[in-house]
Amino acid sequence: MSLPKGGVSQAVLQQIRDATDIADIISRYVTLSKTGQNLRGLCPFHSEKTPSFTVTPAKQMFYCFGCGIGGDALTFLMKKEGMDFPEAVLELAKQGGVPLPIQSGPPNHHSDHAHRRRLEDLHTAASTWFRNNLLFSEQGEPARSYLAARGVQATILEEFGLGYALPEWDGLMRHLLKNGASQNDVVKAGLAVNREDNDKNIRQTNRCYDRFRNRLMFPICDVRGNVIAFGGRTIQEDNPKYLNSPETPLFSKGKSLFGLDRAREAIRREHALLLVEGYFDVMILHQAGIRHVAAPLGTALTKEHMQIIRRLSSTVTFVFDGDAAGMRAALRALDIFVNSGMTVKVAVLPSGEDPDSFVRSHGSDAFLNIVAKALSLLEFTITQCLHRMSQETVEDRIRSVDEILRILQKTDNRIEREEYTRQVAEQLGVRQQLLVDRYQLLDDSSSKPRTRSNTTSPLKPSSGQNVSREERDLVTLLVKGELARKDIQALHVEYFTVPLFRRIVDMVLQHVTEHEDEPVHLDTVFHTLAEDEACRTLIAQLTVSNDHFDDIPAYISGCLEALERKHLRSQLDQLIVQLRSAEQENHQEDVERINEEINRLRGQKAGDRPSPHPTS
Ligand code: UTP
Ligand code: MN
Repeated sequence: MSLPKGGVSQAVLQQIRDATDIADIISRYVTLSKTGQNLRGLCPFHSEKTPSFTVTPAKQMFYCFGCGIGGDALTFLMKKEGMDFPEAVLELAKQGGVPLPIQSGPPNHHSDHAHRRRLEDLHTAASTWFRNNLLFSEQGEPARSYLAARGVQATILEEFGLGYALPEWDGLMRHLLKNGASQNDVVKAGLAVNREDNDKNIRQTNRCYDRFRNRLMFPICDVRGNVIAFGGRTIQEDNPKYLNSPETPLFSKGKSLFGLDRAREAIRREHALLLVEGYFDVMILHQAGIRHVAAPLGTALTKEHMQIIRRLSSTVTFVFDGDAAGMRAALRALDIFVNSGMTVKVAVLPSGEDPDSFVRSHGSDAFLNIVAKALSLLEFTITQCLHRMSQETVEDRIRSVDEILRILQKTDNRIEREEYTRQVAEQLGVRQQLLVDRYQLLDDSSSKPRTRSNTTSPLKPSSGQNVSREERDLVTLLVKGELARKDIQALHVEYFTVPLFRRIVDMVLQHVTEHEDEPVHLDTVFHTLAEDEACRTLIAQLTVSNDHFDDIPAYISGCLEALERKHLRSQLDQLIVQLRSAEQENHQEDVERINEEINRLRGQKAGDRPSPHPTS
């Protein structure tokens, strides 16, 4: 037996978790004895004489204070039995008696799985219909000549399953209804749009129209090649140029990459993936024999994208066109990709060209040449920053320097870092020491990747100093579910110096913002975060920790105040450095503005109350 197509839904996973008792599972391997709310035993993952392996049944988590391994029951099985995630899910489902939806099983119209299946079928049917329109229908003529004019060959067009949505309001809807679909499902699949959601008086059948009309249709597939969404390009220069399917149970833009399903074999061969910007780029590169390519769907790259790519390739090269948009995209990508463990490069095309136009006018060899000359992401970002700085005011330039220093901080490689610092100083015409001093300052006030590994706690190594008590305690209380919505909303990512804390806080904030009208329920957030090993370990550690707080609400607000004050302090420190620099350069306007800003922040500070705790 294997897991159903598309894995199991969050709902089913939750059922499995509900049906599982972690203490039960673990006690088959470890003799556990009770201490307070927790259970203790000798760690099965490292050898020890005194028990530091802790299980918290109330939270269904375990953590070993000795070796730092932790997680939930699924993690335990994966680590202990060497199972992968689907295997562990299957095992726990079996033990807990949770039925998993099976592909060939009887249709259950209420289950998530059956619903997904219907949406998948609709996509397959729509895709065939679009294709037939493009290849055979009389109305498809304008689309055919559009493709011909752009030099798309018939083989590639068929390989990508390209299609055409007719210039009609309900062509697809009528076709699908005729074949037994329900109107509701067609809307849920994102293929049709409800005309007036609010007006219940309009007759049901008149309420819908096709989302895609008079557009060239690109099927978007999951990695297994199932069509899960569409991107439609206008052939008459309408707006928007590209229209994508909305988010559906099958499809999420932030997790999909166009063309990845067709690139897998070539990625394996080339040990690399090229990331380009558009549908046409992917298709035309294939036509030119360059097949290790994919593109995001008109959105910024996400961490999920990174994780998907990382599973397939150790090197990723961004191919940007030569204007400013590429720079912003690179900066965003930097944060996501810099500690991904992948080799990340940036290739830049001449301004105004994209891969499609470039390959067609210069050929595939010229394109591959540019790719071969790609800079590392770090080199590229710094070069761009320096370039931009030549036109800036003092204050902007200092900010840019900070930006560069922060970029440098992201790399673990000390030699690389020093070499870049030297280069940057040279290009700016300042003494290297000035940058080093500034760097130190940033180094203390913000976080930096772990450099020492003499401890197993995910907390200690992440910054030069000890983590402040307030930071740690707030995140602990957050993980234990003690923070109310208003407390959560009072958190700011910048208050936290530990990268993992930032990540947790960031995700939680995003979640509460997106679910504004619902009760706060963070389980799914923590489970998503736990997909990352370091995060999982940290969450497990905090969850099983035995910290006791007397007056929790008062303590929370005390911590919040303390962090806010520290944040203010570090902002002031930065401004003071800016001020000195502006004074040195005799930039009176900047001096005045920075002074004002400093006074404003000082005013804020005076209104503060003292910390609930001396900080460590
Ligand atoms: P571009 O505007 O660069 O288009 O958008 P392109 O890929 O070069 O397309 P052609 O060559 O004009 O046909 C890049 C990508 O951004 C997304 C699409 O994924 C597109 O491929 N996009 C663009 C949208 O989602 N909506 C838009 O309106 C425009
Ligand atoms: Mn283009």
